[in-house]
Amino acid sequence: MLFACIFMLFIYGNFAATDSISPDQSIRDRDGDTLVSAVGAFEVGFFSPGNSKGRYLGIWYKNVSPRTVVWVANREAPLNNHFGVLNVTHEGTLVLLDERNSRVWSSNKSRTAQNPVLQLLDSGNLVVKDGNETDSEKALWQSFDYPCDTLLPGMKLGKNFVTGQVRSLSTWKSPNNPSPGQFSASIDPQGFPQLVVREGHKMHFRVGSWNGLRFTGSPELKELRLFKYEFQLTKNEVSYEWELQNPQSSLLSRLVVNQSGFLQRFARATPLLGWTPIYAAPLDQCDYYAVCGAYASCRTFNSLTVCACLDGFEPKSPKEWRASNWSSGCVRKSNLDCRNDDFQRFRGFKLPDTSNSQFNTSMSLTECRENCFRNCSCTAYANSNISNGGSGCLLWFDELVDMREYTEGGQDLYIRKAKPKPGYGKKQVAIIVSSVMLTGMVFIGLLCYIRIKKLRKQGGGENEEMDLPIFDLATIVKATDNFSSDNKLGQGGFGPVYKGTLAEGQEIAVKRLSKSSGQGMVEFKNEVILIAKLQHRNLVKLLGCCIQGDEKMLIYEYMTNKSLDYFIFDQTKKTLIDWQRRMHIIVGIARGLLYLHQDSRLRIIHRDLKVGNVLLDKDMNPKISDFGLARMFQGDQIEANTNRVVGTYGYMSPEYAVDGHFSIKSDVFSFGVIVLEIISGKKNRGFCHPDHNHNLLGHTWRLWMEERALEVMDTMLGDSYTVSEVLRCIHVALLCVQKRPEDRPDMSSVVLMLASENSLPQPKLPGFYTERNLPEEEASSSQHERVSNGVTISTLQGR
Ligand SMILES: *[C@@H]1O[C@H](CO)[C@@H](O)[C@H](O)[C@H]1NC(C)=O
Ligand SMILES: *[C@@H]1O[C@H](CO)[C@@H](O)[C@H](O)[C@H]1NC(C)=O
Ligand SMILES: *[C@@H]1O[C@H](CO)[C@@H](O)[C@H](O)[C@H]1NC(C)=O
Ligand SMILES: *[C@@H]1O[C@H](CO)[C@@H](O)[C@H](O)[C@H]1NC(C)=O
Ligand SMILES: *[C@@H]1O[C@H](CO)[C@@H](O)[C@H](O)[C@H]1NC(C)=O
Ligand SMILES: *[C@@H]1O[C@H](CO)[C@@H](O)[C@H](O)[C@H]1NC(C)=O
Ligand SMILES: *[C@@H]1O[C@H](CO)[C@@H](O)[C@H](O)[C@H]1NC(C)=O
Ligand SMILES: *[C@@H]1O[C@H](CO)[C@@H](O)[C@H](O)[C@H]1NC(C)=O
Repeated sequence: MLFACIFMLFIYGNFAATDSISPDQSIRDRDGDTLVSAVGAFEVGFFSPGNSKGRYLGIWYKNVSPRTVVWVANREAPLNNHFGVLNVTHEGTLVLLDERNSRVWSSNKSRTAQNPVLQLLDSGNLVVKDGNETDSEKALWQSFDYPCDTLLPGMKLGKNFVTGQVRSLSTWKSPNNPSPGQFSASIDPQGFPQLVVREGHKMHFRVGSWNGLRFTGSPELKELRLFKYEFQLTKNEVSYEWELQNPQSSLLSRLVVNQSGFLQRFARATPLLGWTPIYAAPLDQCDYYAVCGAYASCRTFNSLTVCACLDGFEPKSPKEWRASNWSSGCVRKSNLDCRNDDFQRFRGFKLPDTSNSQFNTSMSLTECRENCFRNCSCTAYANSNISNGGSGCLLWFDELVDMREYTEGGQDLYIRKAKPKPGYGKKQVAIIVSSVMLTGMVFIGLLCYIRIKKLRKQGGGENEEMDLPIFDLATIVKATDNFSSDNKLGQGGFGPVYKGTLAEGQEIAVKRLSKSSGQGMVEFKNEVILIAKLQHRNLVKLLGCCIQGDEKMLIYEYMTNKSLDYFIFDQTKKTLIDWQRRMHIIVGIARGLLYLHQDSRLRIIHRDLKVGNVLLDKDMNPKISDFGLARMFQGDQIEANTNRVVGTYGYMSPEYAVDGHFSIKSDVFSFGVIVLEIISGKKNRGFCHPDHNHNLLGHTWRLWMEERALEVMDTMLGDSYTVSEVLRCIHVALLCVQKRPEDRPDMSSVVLMLASENSLPQPKLPGFYTERNLPEEEASSSQHERVSNGVTISTLQGR
């Protein structure tokens, strides 16, 4: 009986609040009239937002409290009493009337109707339609065509090129005032269309162009499996809309541009949980428009923002750039030369502003490149659609602005650059070969010549060949005075290094690789060619190689000032490098390592980074050496399942030394050790202190925890330093030597952290902080050989 009563009430209630009215009916504020959509999802009626007294006609979720308004009719024309009336005229126009029957607001319509009806649909769309017409596309008018600040499922943003109609979002002025505020979100149809948020007319941020899967500046969209997105670009329209993956679910969701200019997505799974924000953009400082100026990319780490010129570009105004004013951006280091230009691939990018770009969705990447190459003013190209392996073509014709790098979900961008100047050309090799002939060492010369011929046949194309000069053995023998011990510079993990002087007077360093690499000739040469392509001002330059029987040698540029350990651990020489120089060296090493890890094409893990492998040129610029060698030697050796661990105690991360696991994070660990050694002028391994048996890491950690970190500094530094800089370096170093690899930052973060002044996370306990837990016990149980006086080891570990 009771149920029947409730049921009757329900029926009656529903009857009172229908979903539609015709021209002889009205919605009166005074009577509390509303329309409720068929299954009761949305309601349209009069309301006052926040603490405003004004009355507005709006649409809100029927059963959601507090009231969440998704659309407002008279945004800019509030009624100031409760006598407002909404009528639909016989022609099909919606009119909002005040108590004197004058129009406060009215709808537009494309045509007149025979039998107009106003209906609120369950999608939240308020439509005026003709009679029993059910297709909302044929509606005379619909609220979905005039979005306010909210995009509901099925609502479109974009532009109709035929009618010129634009659908965009604009924020409320305040919670009490729904009139349009400063921020708007729209699909900018210029060039290749992109979703942008503007503040007034000014670009605030770009979510960017649609790449077939998501917006280029919104890589996290892909995580949200709850929704499906549709982006259309035809000659008639450009539009974006989204739907719930499962329209039957009780999940509610809406996308809003809020009063602070954020695009925010909310979801509401149950009344208890209420609205939960699940996405917001801008995500960080890098998302704001063109923070970095032209040809620079933006990176963030722990709320810290830094711009970096792209490889091959330099700050337009170095002074502003150093002061973290990035607005003037970067310029090319070498000018373009049109016909001889090349394109460099940049991975993981948010594509630059496309408002002046051109596109062709049916072109392949190869055609795209050709088109860009042919037009000298084309600065870059990319696939316009990255789903299904990539298709379509996007071309840029002006400066590239508003880019950033993502660790995941970014896109490939190909930027025009001048071809690098050829280094050692064929000419030089020719001179060397002829001089060999003259000195009568015809036999060896012939041997080498035949070998080169052979290699040419087996190896890649002629172009590859030209990149790598092959020195003949005779030249090297002569240059190093037959590898005389006087010319020996040192002994590295992969063999001795000799100084040499070529006939023309150029000084070189020759690394005579130990014979155990077990690598075939072709593989070896391919490796060398690859490594020779790594070019960075903080890497030692590989000039060429020499192959003769079992002998394999690498020829490098010679570094006048030898290696860093030669300076920082020497009581007199260390006075030559003041704090500024040391800082310059630290930053240089970080940049070189970053290049190896992620900016070069090879992604090299160094595996034996130590102060002895940091060389100094005549201006005391640091250059990392021995990179890429681990790569050559990494192959399985002797037995199929043994792996060679190369490295140096004191610099090896725990996971590498103990388990042989290496990753870029093992290099980060070594980098941290180097930084502490540079700051303290002491070696990590062999460090001793009267109070404890910690090594340098442990000692620094103790001081850090006691807030006495400055005491770790080399006393030779006098007052030449800046306290904040030293503390920052120590802080970064401690982050690098944390025990767990996943806690350590990657090198791009390290470069950022060194360059900025924002706050950093607290470091956790370092790995290997006492002498006692050095891995000697573990290592000695497996077979290992000591190449030199106990410093460099290479271990063969069973796996
Ligand atoms: C609005 O509709 C009501 C009927 O519900 C009618 O009495 C009134 O005249 C209409 N007002 C106008 C201006 O059309
Ligand atoms: C109706 O159309 C006119 C001009 O076409 C436009 O200025 C006005 O904003 C439109 N009104 C609404 C409510 O969209
Ligand atoms: C609308 O209703 C009329 C009769 O009332 C009918 O003849 C007509 O076919 C209907 N139209 C649609 C689109 O259902
Ligand atoms: C992108 O490519 C996919 C697969 O080829 C295609 O289905 C999709 O429609 C394309 N998207 C756009 C926006 O062109
Ligand atoms: C807008 O959204 C951002 C990001 O979610 C939030 O931090 C901010 O408080 C919001 N502003 C307003 C006025 O709601
Ligand atoms: C940054 O540099 C530009 C000139 O390139 C200048 O106009 C601007 O005021 C500078 N901004 C700051 C915050 O110094
Ligand atoms: C787009 O590229 C295709 C393939 O190269 C070409 O056939 C077509 O003409 C191009 N369309 C336009 C508008 O340039
Ligand atoms: C290069 O492209 C630009 C932009 O589309 C165009 O204005 C210019 O005429 C083109 N130049 C050549 C040589 O095709």
